[in-house]
Amino acid sequence: MWDDKTIQSFRRTLLAWYDQEKRDLPWRRTKDPYHIWISEIMLQQTQVQTVIPYYLRFLDWFPSIKDLAQAPEEQLLKAWEGLGYYSRVRNLQKGAQQIMNDFAGIFPKTYQEILSLKGIGPYTAGAIASIAFGLPEPAVDGNVMRVMARLFEVDYDIGNPSNRKIFQAIMEELIDPERPGDFNQALMDLGTDIESAKNPRPDESPIRAFNAAYLHGTYDKYPIKLPKKKPKPMQLQAFIIRNQEGQFLLEKNQKAGLLAGFWSFPLMETQLLAKQLNLFEEDKDDEVLEKVSLKNVFEEDYGLKPVWTKGNFPLVKHTFSHQKWQVSLLEGQIDQTDLKGDKDLCWVAPEDFVNYPMATPQKKMIEAYQQKD
Ligand code: ADE
Repeated sequence: MWDDKTIQSFRRTLLAWYDQEKRDLPWRRTKDPYHIWISEIMLQQTQVQTVIPYYLRFLDWFPSIKDLAQAPEEQLLKAWEGLGYYSRVRNLQKGAQQIMNDFAGIFPKTYQEILSLKGIGPYTAGAIASIAFGLPEPAVDGNVMRVMARLFEVDYDIGNPSNRKIFQAIMEELIDPERPGDFNQALMDLGTDIESAKNPRPDESPIRAFNAAYLHGTYDKYPIKLPKKKPKPMQLQAFIIRNQEGQFLLEKNQKAGLLAGFWSFPLMETQLLAKQLNLFEEDKDDEVLEKVSLKNVFEEDYGLKPVWTKGNFPLVKHTFSHQKWQVSLLEGQIDQTDLKGDKDLCWVAPEDFVNYPMATPQKKMIEAYQQKD
């Protein structure tokens, strides 16, 4: 990190440029945290020029936190139409309700409290804390990471979320405690234009004299952004088994990992099965596998012999960051209810599902099961 003098000089240079060049944007004419919040959430997914009319209309429709908290769902979704990611506006409303219930309708003033609001992560909390309340909190997004990576030739992948803390730490040193909101916004402006990802113009940068990558001729190398691994496609078979009382067979995932401790319908990876069964030759297609073997394997593994029912269910698709699942469902009925073996199994009535934590793919399986044709 630089010495104090360099840090001071950097702040002065950046802010002088911002004072000259800053864009006149509606959310820069206010310090109202509610307004800043709306703008920041909209700007996460959409360019500045597109956001402006949405922002103005949103505040026209929902002028106060209370109005947003009480907004009818239809109007809420209408206000967001065209922006996409509707969960963001739903979270905005939940956040507004939190403010009404937990903060007496007054927008919280500390970083930690702001961070506790629904849909607000470290970036947005930093942006609101610095812009609306003048707190020296960095707002680290992809743009800021790119600028920092070039400035200090940071050899860490900006695409890896666990590296964010490195850029956060740099920013904590650099941020101007006198004008933190302007400091953050200056970097946002720089990052979206002169220091953009695709067409940077480093010669025009007001901070080029501080920029190690520019000075050392390594500008093209930074930021480091490694290609994301594609999620691995996986075919799975779920067994939806019901007993005479209408209860479903559920199994607790005992393996460590993402879904550890979650409950699921018995689930098997079919490619793995195919290999185990030596059926992985070209002429044995999935259909043969499904009809002949999967049921047998289930019966062996679980010590249960259901009557398999006919019925087609929609394929369940779910993508995790590292796996892309395609799950087909198979339904069976059984009279026998005693469960043996070392698996963690139990019979659960649908109304009791709420007591058994299930991940999203399992919820999608329940939906698919209800759509049997
Ligand atoms: N992108 C995200 N926040 C922004 C802001 N406050 N001004 C301009 N662009 C932004």
